[in-house]
Amino acid sequence: MTNRAAQAFSRPFTVGGLTIPNRIVMSPMTRFSSTGGEAPRDLAAYYARRAAAGVGLVITESTYIDHPTAGNMDNGSRMYGDGPLAGWSRAVEAVHAEGGLIWSQLQHVGMFRKAGDLPHPDAPAFGPSGVPMDYATDFSGAPVEVAPRAGHIMTQADIDDVVRAFAGSAATAERLGFDGVELNAGHGYLIDEFFWPGTNRRTDAYNGDVAARARFAGEVVAAIRAAVSPGFPISMRLSQWKNNNFTTRNWETPEEFGIALGVMADAGTDVFHLSTRRYWEPAFDGSGLNLAGWAKKLSGLPVITVGSVGLADEFWTSLAGGDAATTGIGGLLDRLEADEFDLVAVGRPLIADPEWAAKVISGRDSEITAFTPAALGTIH
Ligand SMILES: Cc1cc2nc3c(=O)[nH]c(=O)nc-3n(C[C@H](O)[C@H](O)[C@H](O)COP(=O)(O)O)c2cc1C
Repeated sequence: MTNRAAQAFSRPFTVGGLTIPNRIVMSPMTRFSSTGGEAPRDLAAYYARRAAAGVGLVITESTYIDHPTAGNMDNGSRMYGDGPLAGWSRAVEAVHAEGGLIWSQLQHVGMFRKAGDLPHPDAPAFGPSGVPMDYATDFSGAPVEVAPRAGHIMTQADIDDVVRAFAGSAATAERLGFDGVELNAGHGYLIDEFFWPGTNRRTDAYNGDVAARARFAGEVVAAIRAAVSPGFPISMRLSQWKNNNFTTRNWETPEEFGIALGVMADAGTDVFHLSTRRYWEPAFDGSGLNLAGWAKKLSGLPVITVGSVGLADEFWTSLAGGDAATTGIGGLLDRLEADEFDLVAVGRPLIADPEWAAKVISGRDSEITAFTPAALGTIH
């Protein structure tokens, strides 16, 4: 092993009962490639190609749990139905055949759903308080008005039902052969809507302070823990920001963040995945640690970092068609070598070049296909 990246990345790491062969994780990325009850297109080949080329762990595109309120698009992936489950089973098999590991990212979109949205047009939009974010921003950061709309305020019975659906879908994922699950608990989706006071205006045990707002997340993790085998990893993906509002913060101080993490850790979380848009940004005043670094320090659990690894600009800019120039990863390696975080998730570079990981690990950086926003149009 000659190059620095190879040494830093090629160290196995254990999460729960699972040993991941290296530190490179494929970040979860929606492909909008399902139709109706069909399995997503090219699913097995798409993930197996990355697993064959040095990705230590694949985390799938977000996948709706088995609850009618969980999704908002007909072409989103699902953890239910014969077609999607057969597709996922083939994908798991293909990744394993390449010696890879794969976790399913489980999703409930909460109030991103609007009345009539597919795949279940009759289902209501569920939220802790039935309200969407009160404002959003455009890609330049300028405020955009969000039309007020009323969703369904979840009752205790609704909460219990969704918790059961998360656990059921995690058990399905394990039965299909997945090596772990991740909860999409950031970006303004259902679990995140409980964390944030802007969308959680409840007056019961699910609101009041930071710990109460983490209660729903804890209940989901505990239910999954009880439904899957011991050692089957559960990852929580968290963010301070929302789609498309980058100024919100669920946790104003490290103390608040530590309390929320504690609720999820006690419930049985094995790893936190901190979704930031730029990994080099400090999360709180007074320290250079990013959000993953803080999560590790505060919880003592393993953490995954993400955000513009090897790229100069963040992903929302790319989604709006903006370019993101290739950059070096020296700064990332400094932090990885210092154990600020344990695993590194990579998104857009792995869309542009399925062999990104193998090329970085073998020092063939000059052979990497650079990311361009056009790559997002044909994710294959
Ligand atoms: C096309 C696309 C789809 C995405 N879909 C998801 C998703 O399903 N779940 C999720 O948690 N994050 C999703 N993300 C965010 C990525 O996982 C990742 O955090 C982000 O792209 C930053 O990593 P990068 O700078 O390496 O691209 C998506 C990003 C892109 C570009």
